[in-house]
Amino acid sequence: MKAVAVFPGSQQVKIIEQEVPRLFEPDQVLMRMLDVGICGTDKEICSFEYGTPPAGDDHLVIGHESLAEIVQAGPAVARFQAGDLVVPSVRRPCPHRGCLACRSGHQDYCYTGDFRERGIKEAHGYMTEYVVDRERYLNLVPPDLREIAVLAEPLTIAEKALAQIFWMMQHRPPWLDPQAPHQERGRGLSALVLGIGPVGLLGAMTLATAGFTTYVYSRELPPSPRIDLVTAIGATYVSSQTVTFPDLAAQMGNIDLVYEAVGHSHFALQALQVLGTNGIFVLTGVPGLQAFVEADPARLMRDMVLKNQVLLGTVNAGPDAFASALRDLDAFRRRWPEVVRTLIAGRNPPEQAPDLILGRPTGIKSVIAFDAPA
Ligand code: BGC
Repeated sequence: MKAVAVFPGSQQVKIIEQEVPRLFEPDQVLMRMLDVGICGTDKEICSFEYGTPPAGDDHLVIGHESLAEIVQAGPAVARFQAGDLVVPSVRRPCPHRGCLACRSGHQDYCYTGDFRERGIKEAHGYMTEYVVDRERYLNLVPPDLREIAVLAEPLTIAEKALAQIFWMMQHRPPWLDPQAPHQERGRGLSALVLGIGPVGLLGAMTLATAGFTTYVYSRELPPSPRIDLVTAIGATYVSSQTVTFPDLAAQMGNIDLVYEAVGHSHFALQALQVLGTNGIFVLTGVPGLQAFVEADPARLMRDMVLKNQVLLGTVNAGPDAFASALRDLDAFRRRWPEVVRTLIAGRNPPEQAPDLILGRPTGIKSVIAFDAPA
């Protein structure tokens, strides 16, 4: 079977042939991979800036955003059967007994850093025809979400952040109603999303669904299908090429939440300076090497203290975030059917993966499908 692999030693990205894997533990399933999404992390891995092959291998099969169909379930598998659709999670626990996070199934909070991530760090990924994994790492997908469930993994980033934000908002400013239904929780609050890539757009959809007055700020200028999408979900798009951060802040009023999805340190630092009173700043982008910038840490520190601000970094996600992501994908589909149809830019055969990963992004989310016509 085919797989898309990166060889860091010889600096190559290519299609390889490998054996179809087999079940070797009773709690495992064999899956046929239907859709595998491409993201910024794949680009970094294929530029040899990030990612590590499994110990003893010279290559890493990439791919971590996926949707699969169960082909065979081991005898101890209770939740799934052949034909079920699933989205596998990415991170696998570290082996250390003392890591309370990993030992309690919360490897997204791993203390040791010795976790593995499928398609990213020391474990082969999903950009191949068949994959074996344990039941506990899989999330059941309703058949209605077949066309868009590959977006669940990138959406978990926003879901994990939002779960923490809501918890903090309901425990910090006590005048917010902790019993408010999901779609009311952000009512009266403003959110600023930095970045108009898939993570930013999915974040904006999540925040708009939760009732925040949502702005998206990025370099892009109209005309652009991504800007049209922002408008279609009832959010406001502002380009950093025409409006500065201070002017944006004046337009928005108190900025209650910043959701950073760019991975650009200078941009993030500028945004931190306009975060409002009691504001929460969420960082999700992982920056590569970037030029040093001047900052005024005393001013940042003074603002953070005097305005009760929170700076929150968040990575990866656990089963709750996957469940919320699948719930929200369904909500997006019902609320914005036209928008949701445009989220997947196209399904492409694996031979096109290197060009799609390393080229300029086209559309919103490019997907590799092993049954797409070559
Ligand atoms: C993935 C996460 C992963 C992170 C860091 C992201 O692209 O979506 O699952 O934890 O990269 O490797």
